[in-house]
Amino acid sequence: MNRIIRNFVVFEGGDGSGTTTQLSLLEKRLAGAPGGPVFYPTFEPTGGPVGKLVRSALKKETSLLPETLARLFAADRAEHLFAPDGILDRCGRGELVVSDRYALSSLVYQGIECGDELPRLLNASFPLPELLFFFDIDPEIAHRRLQNRPVREIYEYPEFQQRVREKYKALLGGYEKAGVRVELIDAAKSAGDAAEDVWRALAACCTCGFFA
Ligand code: TYD
Repeated sequence: MNRIIRNFVVFEGGDGSGTTTQLSLLEKRLAGAPGGPVFYPTFEPTGGPVGKLVRSALKKETSLLPETLARLFAADRAEHLFAPDGILDRCGRGELVVSDRYALSSLVYQGIECGDELPRLLNASFPLPELLFFFDIDPEIAHRRLQNRPVREIYEYPEFQQRVREKYKALLGGYEKAGVRVELIDAAKSAGDAAEDVWRALAACCTCGFFA
């Protein structure tokens, strides 16, 4: 059974589900809450060297086999977790770390592209968050939200996103069985309403103390 990291929270969802917006709304709200935890918002793919290579492949600037990309996502994650001042260090000293995407993204997206075995193997040893938010949205609505973005990334088309949604739903139960608290957020709501739901769920179950 994988270890659960206290104070580690993950936002997951299909493209256009609003995870990035929600993370910045949470950051603003915590900044305005005196006595709150030291907050470290972060994301994957990271801004590190491996994450940058991944992003160039997502934008089709670099051509890589899906299996290579799966390995790079996992390597980027290992840096994110284990490098000095990474997720483990920060959670260990009591910071509240919230990551926009983590290992479940690989099990879902690379699972669809490469089959389940490789991403499962590559991510098998990574510890789990104590709390995972799944931002659920109809891919058609999410697709409309993505229309204004200047670059279309490799996974941003509705047929793939439909499979992404189904695969998230199929895998969430396994996370719960492993001891991760899973919160489903209706991401078709306004950003403000979804942010309220996130705040309430954090208050109810985060062990960092601030919300207790
Ligand atoms: P992200 O920057 O979160 O995209 P967006 O802001 O558009 O939601 O993630 C970039 C893409 O990378 C997104 O399509 C999901 C994908 N991804 C994977 O396929 N595997 C992974 O392990 C991660 C972290 C992301």
